[in-house]
Amino acid sequence: MIIELTTKDITTLRVDGIVNAANSSLLGGGGVDGAIHRAAGPQLLNFCRTLNGCATGEAKLSPGFALPAQYVIHTVGPIFKQGDTNQAKLLQSCYSSCLRIAQDEGMSSVAFPAISTGVYGYPKDQACDIAVTTVTAWTGNLPIKVIFCCFDSETESLYRHALQ
Ligand code: AR6
Repeated sequence: MIIELTTKDITTLRVDGIVNAANSSLLGGGGVDGAIHRAAGPQLLNFCRTLNGCATGEAKLSPGFALPAQYVIHTVGPIFKQGDTNQAKLLQSCYSSCLRIAQDEGMSSVAFPAISTGVYGYPKDQACDIAVTTVTAWTGNLPIKVIFCCFDSETESLYRHALQ
């Protein structure tokens, strides 16, 4: 298992799979979702229309189309709500659902954005701890490279700290 940390636009990564922090319609949006749809081209939206959406905490697979990545794994993070006792489990489930798909497809590298930490408002420190704990528990014995793809230096330093 290899875990890497990078601060880049996830749409530029040449990996087997990139994860999209989508919404339950899977029909596009802002943030990383918008960037992925723009970079993949209109074929991605056409394909996503056939997926019938996705429940929070689950994940669905599509080709990467014009992206350098071969696949996109679309997952739907929880919308943060103070005091909700189920949201950590749902966020954990996003990471494990994506890893299950990556493993089933035989991917050797997969990159995750910081799911739910943008529009969905999940506190970055908590989300980052969940990401690192879940991925570390999953990839222990797998020949897979997981890349945490941050978008800003604050997120990168939270991951760096959590990975130590
Ligand atoms: N590459 C890597 N990370 C990025 C990129 C990028 N190109 N762009 C943004 N981020 P968000 P969410 C980071 O809001 O909170 C959409 O409208 C960003 O800085 O994209 O799960 C969907 O359709 C943040 O740290 O996703 C949903 O409606 C992280 O990616 C909703 O937003 C996630 O931010 C999902 O909200």
